[in-house]
Amino acid sequence: MQQARVAQVGIGGYGASIRGALVAAENVAYQAVCDLDQALCEQVAAETGAAVRSFDEILADPAIQAVAVVLPNHLHRPYVERIAAAGKHVFCEKPIANHTADGAAMIQACREAGVILMIGHNYRREATFRQAREWLEAAAIGTLIDAQGESSHAGGLQINPATWRFDPTLCPALPLIQLGVHVIDFLNHCLGRPVEVSGLQRHRVIPGNNVDATVSCIAYESGVLATVASHYCTPGRTEVLFSGLGGRVQVNGGKASLHTKAGVTAPEIARLDSRLEECREFAAAVLGQTTVETPGEAGLWALAVCEAATLSQRERRTVALAELPGMAVVA
Ligand SMILES: NC(=O)c1ccc[n+]([C@@H]2O[C@H](COP(=O)([O-])OP(=O)(O)OC[C@H]3O[C@@H](n4cnc5c(N)ncnc54)[C@H](O)[C@@H]3O)[C@@H](O)[C@H]2O)c1
Repeated sequence: MQQARVAQVGIGGYGASIRGALVAAENVAYQAVCDLDQALCEQVAAETGAAVRSFDEILADPAIQAVAVVLPNHLHRPYVERIAAAGKHVFCEKPIANHTADGAAMIQACREAGVILMIGHNYRREATFRQAREWLEAAAIGTLIDAQGESSHAGGLQINPATWRFDPTLCPALPLIQLGVHVIDFLNHCLGRPVEVSGLQRHRVIPGNNVDATVSCIAYESGVLATVASHYCTPGRTEVLFSGLGGRVQVNGGKASLHTKAGVTAPEIARLDSRLEECREFAAAVLGQTTVETPGEAGLWALAVCEAATLSQRERRTVALAELPGMAVVA
């Protein structure tokens, strides 16, 4: 099988999950790793056969076709821009960046270099989310009126307050940009273009001064209204509920269900590995066999909702996405 030659920058934290998926993908040749943690690099090199390289060495290596970036959010733009300038394709974790201006610059850089920019919005790939979207596509609940989503967990109560997530300048609207952004990407995928957002954000209980409780209201061009709750201090919950004139579609934990006058349909849904799926797709795109489902543009729309919610909280008003810096690249 043809293999895309991929390196990875940032292999600790969530990088371990992406590393596992890249190594497992049969169409990836896992070439090189780079991280501040040299001991981890050596360990992963011994386990996978990848070379330990500096970022400059990865950029300079003509054998490497693509780089996966699994770094803290504020590093996405500088790393992606340099990878694009080196003519290599990029897989970048979500959120695309902390600010729309940065996300737009990344999209421009990749467009100009003629390289792929894929964002790691993996939730929409989960089998339950796919099933929900299929029902909506088939108009199983008729005209859509409303959607409610939540993505929360209590990670803020446990992790080290000295890390980047706790600094509002490095991770604005913490639970929204880290967790809610996944649900927002899925809502955008199902509902189309978001146009305006109102947000409320509070710091309640986690250490430091970043927010840990957020609620965002989104208006879609189609007229559908959505609310997304995202907290960093409540028990883990990922849920989406769509309401239409003819019933409801729900994704809750590992289940998807359709509720209409005819009754409730709740099929057994086999789990799939959404990270493996996205890594396979990225490699196939690098090999010219397909296009990516979540390009930089999808990442920018999801981020724009988060940024608009934060601006809304700051200025106590509803914010139109079109007023955010950089949105002209997806106009
Ligand atoms: N898709 C998902 O479900 C999901 C889940 C968690 C995190 N993420 C995303 O993954 C990204 C990383 O998050 P994380 O939780 O792994 O962060 P983290 O801080 O735990 O780990 C980041 C890794 O990058 C390394 N690193 C930091 N600066 C570096 C540099 N300049 N050069 C090389 N290596 C460097 C660190 O040593 C560490 O190994 C974030 O953008 C986050 O939003 C996505």
